Amino acid sequence: MTRGLIRRDPGELPAEVTGFVGRQRELAVLDGLLGTARLVTVTGPGGVGKTRVALRAAAKARGQFADGVCLAELGGLHDPELLPHTVATCLGLPGQDTGSQADAIVDYLRDRELLLILDSCEHLIGACAALAGPVLRYAAEVTMLATSRQPMNLPGEHCCPIPPLPVPSQGPAGAVPAGAVRAGAVPAGAVLAGTGVATRWSFLPSGPRRPRPASPSRPPTAAT
Ligand SMILES: Nc1ncnc2c1ncn2[C@@H]1O[C@H](COP(=O)(O)OP(=O)(O)OP(=O)(O)O)[C@@H](O)[C@H]1O
Ligand SMILES: [Mg+2]
Repeated sequence: MTRGLIRRDPGELPAEVTGFVGRQRELAVLDGLLGTARLVTVTGPGGVGKTRVALRAAAKARGQFADGVCLAELGGLHDPELLPHTVATCLGLPGQDTGSQADAIVDYLRDRELLLILDSCEHLIGACAALAGPVLRYAAEVTMLATSRQPMNLPGEHCCPIPPLPVPSQGPAGAVPAGAVRAGAVPAGAVLAGTGVATRWSFLPSGPRRPRPASPSRPPTAAT
């Protein structure tokens, strides 16, 4: 797939392209937290399913935020100094120099009611915490949802740990050692592939059609 050919607004939530199984408990926890907490961090080992759960929860919570949801995918970002620039781009803000970019984000968010998602924070955890702190302090109607292998350790942060998916007992013998799953060593994708669930789910679009994702919150003009 050629990414450059996809028309996608910055910050827009992607639609699911594979099926989604389980996670009712985690989704219920996130549903409650996104209505009350200011910073929610979905934590767990690599590949366990943090992003899938977080984006599901965000899509469900979207209606609670008058200015919508904005997703910043940070997995491909390696320079922590570029974090404010990346988040600003996702919000649709014009570029600033690095120093004032974080201020511009806070200014923009100050009067907005928005869910800001930072996906894959672990390798930039200090920079994410440094941005989240002022956003939470000065943008009172903004809720932040992060996914990370480790928490930001900010005041008021609520963590939602994601355990590995259980292996169905009727799965092919020896596909995934259950002990390894309990130890958190097996990513969700491997568990699903090992059980035959992935064969059924991975190549099919999601079952019931869901509403198209709304565009993320964008400033009406660069001056606002
Ligand atoms: N509940 C689920 N149902 C179906 N597939 C899932 C589910 N959870 C995760 N997967 C699949 O498992 C793989 C890993 O999931 P995901 O990217 O959400 O993990 P992650 O914890 O965010 O990984 P990373 O730590 O690398 O960011 C993906 O292919 C994803 O589609
Ligand atoms: Mg992820």
